[in-house]
Order: sequence, then structure tokens, then C-alpha cells
Amino acid sequence: MTDDDLIAAARAAAERAYAPYSRFPVGAALRFAGGAVVTGTNVENASYGLSLCAETVAVARALGQGLRGGLEAVAVTGPRMGEGDAPITPCGRCRQVLNELAQLGGTDPDILCVGPAEVRRVKLSALLPHAFGPADLV
Ligand code: THU
Repeated sequence: MTDDDLIAAARAAAERAYAPYSRFPVGAALRFAGGAVVTGTNVENASYGLSLCAETVAVARALGQGLRGGLEAVAVTGPRMGEGDAPITPCGRCRQVLNELAQLGGTDPDILCVGPAEVRRVKLSALLPHAFGPADLV
């Protein structure tokens, strides 16, 4: 699966988002060494604070499938809102959740932040420097 395929998977996931309150559908796609791809969407709740982000849902699905390491790349995409064309980046909580999965396999995945006109590629370690993770607890 190429980066373009991963981006397409994130975009397709965003179309299935459950975001009736924010109307801000987000899709995420995780690619693992060996080729597995796991997607997620944001899942909102009438009790707004219980809503889950797309990246967190994707990580939960991956861990639930038994995947523990080898996280190579993540694509995340949200809609264009307001004037800006800039791609969204994972929220702070999702950076920490992604770091959990990445550290399990000792990888520093590329995060592909997919906007309408631009894909911004950043390392997870650049989004979350000096991260706390499972390695700190052994
Ligand atoms: N959202 C995500 O799914 N991922 C992020 O990294 C940022 C925000 C969702 C949460 C909420 O459902 C909607 O976008 C608006 O904040």
C-alpha cells in the first residue's frame, strides 16, 4: 500500500465518520509493517465530551486486532473549514495514543496530515517530543 493508497483510505474513512454534532468528519488510516491497514473515524456522542477522535478509534481497532508494533505511517484528514487550506494535525491526546502503539514496536511513524491542497509529512516524534510511553514503565 502506497502513501497515496493510505491517504485514500483515510479519506474513505472520513466519509463514514459519525460526527453529527461538530459536522467535522475526520478519517485516519494506520499502515503497519507487513501491509496491514486499519482505519478509524471520529465517533461523537450526544454527551459531547465522550466523543472519540478518528486516530484514537483507529488505534483501538488495531490493538483489538492484536497488532502491537510496526506502525509505519498514519494518514489523517479532516474537512476544509473556514478560510484555511492547511491540513489538520492529530490533537494532543491522539498524539499520545499513537505514541503508545508506535513505542510498542520501536517505530517513529510518518504522520501524513492530509488537507485539500497539501499533504504535510511529519514524524510522530516531532509532534510529540520527549514522549512518555510504555518504555518508561519497564
Ligand atoms: N477530531 C479528530 O477526530 N481527530 C483530531 O485529531 C482532531 C479532532 C474530531 C473530534 C471531533 O469529533 C471533531 O473532530 C471536532 O473537534
